[in-house]
Amino acid sequence: MSALAIIGCAQVVTVRGPGDVGIIPDGALLARDGLIERVGTRREVEPWIPADCTVVDAGGRILMPGFVDAHTHPVFAGDRADEFEKRAAGATYQEIAAEGGGIRSTVRRTREAAEDQLVAAAQKHAQWFLRCGATTIEAKSGYGLSVEDELKILRAMRGLSPLRHVPTFLGAHEVPEEYRGRGQQYVDLVVHEMLPRVAQERLAEYCDVFCEPGIFSPEQAHQILDAARRLGMGLRIHADQLSLNGGAELAAQLGAATADHLEHTGAAGIAALRRAGVQPVLLPGAVHALGSKRYPDARAMIEAGLDVVLATDFNPGSSPTPSIPMILSLACTQMKMTPAEAIAAATLSAARSLGRAHQIGSLEPGKRADLVIHDCADYRELAYWFGIEPAHTVYIDGQLAFQR
Ligand code: NIG
Ligand code: FE
Repeated sequence: MSALAIIGCAQVVTVRGPGDVGIIPDGALLARDGLIERVGTRREVEPWIPADCTVVDAGGRILMPGFVDAHTHPVFAGDRADEFEKRAAGATYQEIAAEGGGIRSTVRRTREAAEDQLVAAAQKHAQWFLRCGATTIEAKSGYGLSVEDELKILRAMRGLSPLRHVPTFLGAHEVPEEYRGRGQQYVDLVVHEMLPRVAQERLAEYCDVFCEPGIFSPEQAHQILDAARRLGMGLRIHADQLSLNGGAELAAQLGAATADHLEHTGAAGIAALRRAGVQPVLLPGAVHALGSKRYPDARAMIEAGLDVVLATDFNPGSSPTPSIPMILSLACTQMKMTPAEAIAAATLSAARSLGRAHQIGSLEPGKRADLVIHDCADYRELAYWFGIEPAHTVYIDGQLAFQR
């Protein structure tokens, strides 16, 4: 049926494992029917290119698997530029949240939005991700905080297509206004009403909880995640972001797929994640945009043997960026990861954290042809230049999804 060949690549960045980008110089790739068929040097691949094939010359650029962004909040209404201005003047994220702003202000606007308006917002954000070279995102709900509004958000995720997305239910993102002071009653609503509906309508693969003092305690997070696990969902946790709160240990105890943020996690938490095989998802965009200097200890995690993931945490409050290249820059400059470690963390390791390492995240025969030509000649440039959008051409399932 349809075949696509990409030749003339200064480097094909295949990605083989943590820290191993598997460079093929003067490389080429052949895909057929949306799947990768051959990857190698131009000499190795060219003889196999069939007559009826679309042949694209990358012009000395690099070819890579699409980025897999394993932590995003992409469906919401409005923005929080007003709060951003307040933070620039010295207010903290927690102060703004305590006054009813923060997540709750996005919840108010998202509740007012009709489903088709949220589909339109999802479409707009999907374009932003594609422009930045992502082909798969994990997508959390969490700005509805009522049964109907959470379902509305999960349904509106169809607007993300052609970007692939893996849906996560985050009904426990914040205690909504009408449950203020009655957090446990809200937890009961999540467990007894929201989760069964989400599972019944098969609207989410994973369940996440914002585990943080004043939001949801480790005990409450445990109740919710345990209920989700019984319904067959995988688990992810916002852990140790603003304080050390036992979130990493809880992720280990529950056998979660990931523990995310981990800005405050120390040696004990790292050891617990290692023993349980939980992947850390590090979100330096949220540290940067909150004006903090407290980055998670990526080096200690790598040295402990953890399979570290990097993601944007795209959301309107703490991390308003859809750009994995920006995250690669922060990972190298602020967390001292190497460019190779950072790229593997945002592709193959991220795919593994979503249970999709057999389909996406690297360039190997049999995997999906989710491919990005970036406008540079060396993979290290992706983390080195910052504030530019290096993605030049993006394919999903071998079909053109974005072109500059
Ligand atoms: O991952 N920590 C909680 N959730 C988001 C922030 C969401 C928001 O501020 O709207 C985060 O940083
Ligand atoms: Fe988040």
